[in-house]
Parts: sequence; C-alpha cells; structure tokens
Amino acid sequence: MPDSSAPMIELDPASLHPALTDPALTAMNFLNEVASCYPDAVSFAPGRPFEEFWDVAQIPRYLERFCEHLRKDRGMDEAAVVRTLHQYGRTKGVIADIVARHLGADEGITAAPDAVVVTVGCQEAMVLVLRALRATDRDVVLAVDPTYVGLTGAARLVDMPVLPVASGAEGVDREDLARCVAEARAAGLRPRALYVMPDFANPTGLSMPEEGRRALLETAEREDILLLEDNPYGLFCGAAERPPTLKALDTTGRVVYLGSFAKTVLPGARVGYVVADQRVRGSAGIFADELAKIKSMITVNTSPISQAIVAGRLLENDGSLDLANTAERHQYQRNLSQLIDGLGRRLGSVPGVSWNQPRGGFFVVVTVPVAVGDAELEYSGRAHGVLWTPMRHFYGGAGGEHQLRLSCSSLDGDRIEQGLDRLAAFLIEAITSAGGICER
Ligand SMILES: Cc1ncc(COP(=O)(O)O)c(C=O)c1O
Repeated sequence: MPDSSAPMIELDPASLHPALTDPALTAMNFLNEVASCYPDAVSFAPGRPFEEFWDVAQIPRYLERFCEHLRKDRGMDEAAVVRTLHQYGRTKGVIADIVARHLGADEGITAAPDAVVVTVGCQEAMVLVLRALRATDRDVVLAVDPTYVGLTGAARLVDMPVLPVASGAEGVDREDLARCVAEARAAGLRPRALYVMPDFANPTGLSMPEEGRRALLETAEREDILLLEDNPYGLFCGAAERPPTLKALDTTGRVVYLGSFAKTVLPGARVGYVVADQRVRGSAGIFADELAKIKSMITVNTSPISQAIVAGRLLENDGSLDLANTAERHQYQRNLSQLIDGLGRRLGSVPGVSWNQPRGGFFVVVTVPVAVGDAELEYSGRAHGVLWTPMRHFYGGAGGEHQLRLSCSSLDGDRIEQGLDRLAAFLIEAITSAGGICER
C-alpha cells in the first residue's frame, strides 16, 4: 500500500514551460469554470454545435457506412476492414480521399488526397503547421487581431511569437499586414505566415469579400508569406452566396488550408485535417509529408474509428457536408437572426451599445460603454444568469475591454429570448451604475 502520509514532491511552475501560465492557455479553464459555477445560466459563451440533431444511433450507422465503402469501393476483405478500424493506421489518415472529395464538392478546392493529413481536430493541425514553420527563434506567425485563442495557444506551445495584424472592416487590413511584415523583417524576424479566417471569423464574425481574398493572395505573394486559412464556419452561410475560399483561388501553393469537422459532423469525434500541397525543395515529398512526420511523434495517427464516423456521414451525403448540414444551416441562420433582432428590440436605443451583423457563422460582437471583463462575466452569471465571452481573451495586446462575444449556435429560440432578456438587464444595470443614461 502506498504511504499516504509521505510528503508529495512539488513542481516549481517556473521550471515548467512558460506557456502554461500564459493567458492564452488559462483562458479556456477560467471560462469553463465560470460556466460550471452557473449551470442554469443561459450561455451565449461557447461556439458549440446545436445538440438536438444528434442521436447515438447515428454513430453505428456511420461506422457501417464506412465499412461498406471499404468493402465495395476499396475491395477490402473482412480482415482488412477489421484491421483498418482496429489497428494503428496510416499517419496521414485513412479517409484522405473522402476529405478531398468533400473539398471539391463543397469548397471548390482541388486537393490531392496525398496533400491531406487527417488530424485530431483542427487544433492538432495548427500545432503541426506552426511546429514545422518555427525553424529558428527568428520565425514568427502573424494573426488577425482579435483572433482564435486556439491559434495563440498553439503558437505559445511551440515558442512562436504571434504578431497582431489589424482586422479592419473586412477581416484583414492589408496595409497593416504589409507594415507588420516590413517591421518584423527590419527587426531581424522572419514572418512565415498569416493565420486568417475569411468566413465568419471567430470571434468577430467578419467575412472577406472575394475582391479582398484575391488582394490578400497578391499581398501574400508579394510579401512571400504563407496564408493559414481556417474555415470551420464557412458552410453556415444561410442562403447567401459564398465567396470562394482562399485555397480555391490559390494557384501557387500560398495557402495551407486548415479544416475541422467539429461543427459540421461532431466535435466529440475530434477529427480535423490540413491540406498542405507545397513542394519542399530538395525532397520528393510535399509539406504534408513533413507534417506527418511531426504527427507521428505527437498522436501517431488520428483514431480510425473517429475517422470512420466522419467518413460515414460524408459518404451518406455524396461527400457533401453542405448537403448533410441543411437542417443545421437553417437552425444557425434562424438563431443568428433572432439574436440580432432581439438585441435591436432590447438595446437598440441604449446609447453607446452597438453590435455587428454577420450574415452567417455563430458569433456576434457587442460593443458597450462599460468594461466587460472576467469580473463582469462572473457577476453576470451570478446575478443575472447569463454568460458570454469577454472579447479581451481574443486580443494579443490591449483591446476588447468594452466588447463581448455572443454565440447563438447551441441554444433554441426560447433560450435565446430568455438569455437576451437577462443580458439586457445586466448591461442596463452596468451602464446605469457606471453613470450612463439608459433609455429603452
Ligand atoms: C477558428 C476555429 N478553428 C478551429 C476550431 C475547431 O477546432 P477543432 O476541430 O480542434 O475542434 C474552432 C472551434 O471552436 C474555431 O473556432
């Protein structure tokens, strides 16, 4: 029996990797903790998918659909089918061809299956790409500010500085990008890539028009940097025409495309991918092969069972997630309209309160004339029963102190109305007690 009275050793946090105390890594824990303290609150905080379309019976059905594909389309005998699902698998994944087919069907992207690495969520894809690009301590990544905290956290873990680029009204301020690259080079740094979400970005909800996408590709060409395009929300665009992805417009291999099945299939499967078709000088392989080497030392391979679930859903829908998500797209669009209309009805005449109006995606940003940080979030949960995300968490430096992000993806209509009533009560109280005059 272990001696429970023996003194436990203690690790000095200063002896651990500095990222472990970085706000990018501690933010998620804090936000989850607040949420767990107020389980009855209406939460506009997480960008989680709507749960009512899920059903446990879907999982064996998807698995069986993939097995049928292995037998019929890949000509496998039963032993090979069993091995594909149960055994260690190919590092790049066992569904790269199905992912490539989806990219052609839904995103206008022509990807060779060999350029696809299937990852443990998009999060792993970010770590792989940043790890590979961080060759020396001069290498830096640029990211539109505010940006997704998953990118900032991944960069911290590979000791790669993130330089902020202004987002402007359309998602990337190209003049600021050029200025940032020039300043970094003048300081002896090597800007490798810009991380960007051209479709309904997290957290801003901003989207880039097609002209802006073409111009960004030209800027990347001129400045000789890669673009890391992350696109988890592009399919949730309502009835609107979608501009082409950067990768669909890319003719020279400037774009490394990061994909996630978290919102379009299910986050519990933890499946994402990266398309990395760039040639690697002096080698017969491409960038995807280099990323696979890193993956082989991190997660070895993505669970083939999880890959099979994702592939089953894709195969059931002729490779199209657009088709598979018809009901989800309508749900998210209804939620977004309800959120935006509901803000107008409750806060439209309150001075200093405004919000953006994205056409799709999960997120709306509200600007208010008072500070809305972690302390105010905690109070909002405790006294008003409503949660949201302080925008402060998405900024590298100062910024977002007077902004909050609302996500409407996981709520139904009644909860959105209830949450908006509570949010309006919280904000009006905060503005009134700060000396602002509120007219409703
Ligand atoms: C911008 C962005 N990228 C990627 C992801 C999803 O990553 P994963 O596939 O690891 O769940 C999210 C999820 O919230 C996101 O907002």
